[in-house]
Parts: sequence; C-alpha cells; structure tokens
Amino acid sequence: MSEPYQVVVADFIDDELQPERQVLGEIARVAALRAHSEDDLAGRIEQAHAVILYHEVSITRQTIERLERCKLIVRAGVGFDNVDHRFARQRDIPVATVPDYGSEEVADSAIGMMLALARGVHLFNSRLRAGQGPWSYSQAVPLTRLRGQVLGVVGLGRIGTAAALRGKALGMDVVFYDPLKPDGYDKAQGIRRVETLDELLGQSLAVTMHCPLTDETRHIIDAAAIARMPHGSYLVNTSRGAVVDTRAIPDAIASGQLAGAAIDVLEHEPPPDDDPLLVAWRDPDHPAHDRLIVNPHSAFYSEEGLMDIRVKTSEACRRALLGQPLRNVVN
Ligand code: NAI
Repeated sequence: MSEPYQVVVADFIDDELQPERQVLGEIARVAALRAHSEDDLAGRIEQAHAVILYHEVSITRQTIERLERCKLIVRAGVGFDNVDHRFARQRDIPVATVPDYGSEEVADSAIGMMLALARGVHLFNSRLRAGQGPWSYSQAVPLTRLRGQVLGVVGLGRIGTAAALRGKALGMDVVFYDPLKPDGYDKAQGIRRVETLDELLGQSLAVTMHCPLTDETRHIIDAAAIARMPHGSYLVNTSRGAVVDTRAIPDAIASGQLAGAAIDVLEHEPPPDDDPLLVAWRDPDHPAHDRLIVNPHSAFYSEEGLMDIRVKTSEACRRALLGQPLRNVVN
C-alpha cells in the first residue's frame, strides 16, 4: 500500500481532529502542530501534502521555501494576510480560503457590539457593577434613537452586506464605502453608496469595518479619520486589527469624540500586556473602561461555524490531494 498523504493543521486547533479525520481519514494522516509562532513549524511541516492554517501564526517565504511536496495551503478563514500567497504562487502552491463559514456570526457580532454601545448596555453594566454612579439612565446621557441614524459600512462584501441588512432592519440609514464594488449594489440593497471614505466618516453615527487588511487598508482608520467622524460616534472593528490604528482610540474616547468603540481584532493577537489600548481599557479611571468593548477575535465563532470551517478546510485538502478542481483559490 502506498504511503498516505500528510495533512497538518498548523495552529489554533488543539483536539482530536475528529472532523478533519472524518473527511480525510482514508487518504491522509492528519496532525495538529499547535504552533504559536512560525518557528514552531520548523522541522514539522516540510513533508506535508496540504497545510491548514488558522490565524495564530503566519506562513512566510521562509516556511514556504521548505515545503517539499505541498499541494495546497488552505487558510481556515476569509482573510489571507498571514500567508505569503504571492511567493506560494511562485512555487506553484495554491492558497485557498474558506469564505462562507461565519459571515452571519461576524455581522451579528458587529451589530451586537454597536447596539451594546449605542444603547448604553456596556456602559451601564460596567459602571453599575463597579458601584459607580446612580442607578439611572442618566449615566449614559445622551443616547440617540438609532432609527434614521447613519450606519457606515466600510467594505460591502459578504459580511459588510450582512451587517448592512441588519442595520436596515433597525431602521438605520445605511451607507457604504467600497471602491472595488461595481455599481448597482446600492440599488439592489436599498442602501446609499459614497465615493470616499471621508464622506462616509463625516455622516455616520456608527462606522463598522468589513474590508480586508491590505496595503491600502492598513491603519485606514487612524486619529485623523476618527477626527472626521461626528463628535460622539461609535467605531466597530471586526475585520482585521491593523485596519484600525488602535493607539488613537483611548484619546478619542477620553475627549468624547468617540462615545464608544468595539474591537474584536487586534494587530497582535494575543496582545502584549502593555498594549496602550488594553492599558486604558483595564484602567478603571480611564473613560475607555466603560466605553470600550474588547473581544478575542471571536466574532466568527459559533459551534456551527467552527464545524463548517473544519469540514470545509478538510474538503479543500481532499480535493487537492485527489487532484480535483480547487475552490476559492486566492493566488
Ligand atoms: P469579502 O471579500 O466578501 O468582502 C470584503 C470587501 O471589502 C469587498 O467587497 C472589497 O471590495 C472591500 N474592500 C477591499 N478594499 C477596500 C477598501 N480599501 N476600502 C473599502 N472596502 C474595501 O470578505 P468578507 O467575508 O466580507 O470578510 C471581510 C473581512 O472580515 C475579512 O477580510 C476578514 O479579515 C474579516 N473577518 C473577521 C472575522 C472575525 O472573526 N473577526 C471572521 C471572518 C472574516
């Protein structure tokens, strides 16, 4: 009998790999490498025929150069900024993503966090638990009725569209900025398109980020961008950490320019203890303590979504190993 293929799960998954084995069982051996940095992959990934990569490590040129027989790197997720896909293409290694496992969950999280900020839910909970202030709505004055307010969606892809639909259901006036979308999405969805990010920022009570991390979008929201938002507005980021320069957030909250912010994703995950954003968020005397929500890159997560992604990544590997047509290749 010929030697079975080898598939490795580089990071993040730390269990018996039951879903992966169910799909790949008879054709491949599957191993979880549980890497926390790219260096952890050295000596363990070189012989893999397919690599499943989550978001805790990056695969750069130095690793790709050592892959001897890899037929596919599959990013278990949507964004693929943590793999050098251009260099992989030079070596004839396709990189694929799984675009459709958690779009609704991320949109639910984004809108949920916006509601928690804009309805004062987070602020009341945080202050009352700490025994601060009166047992009264007055702690959050002024809150604005959401109906009719502008929700700005940056990036009208799968998740941005799902967020826009949710915003519409709340009666919000949804605008989007997405320079890569052809015309017509505004008409199809009954939302407004703006041509520049500044136009969106200038009118949005809440801005929700749903673009990928690229050279163009890195720090696309910085102190200057936040200054262009209306005083007392909200910022939600469930896209990629580096899309927002989070160093600007504590001061923006302290000055009231932002009435609140919600951050599911950070530039470095897990973040260092001295990350200025987290220092302000932990400090009971900083206004960010009550007005900033931080989540651990969990917006995608539901049991159903996690199972979807594990099965779909395994199916992608199976197709590659059996020489069948690949799907969702990005390079
Ligand atoms: P998508 O590819 O369907 O949509 C991205 C949209 O952003 C596209 O319409 C694209 O035209 C647009 N875009 C590209 N450059 C832009 C720019 N400079 N300005 C404005 N828009 C721009 O991707 P999907 O599925 O909607 O995911 C969006 C992002 O969400 C992903 O790139 C990923 O980084 C992030 N994500 C986060 C998760 C989490 O758990 N927090 C889970 C899944 C995805």
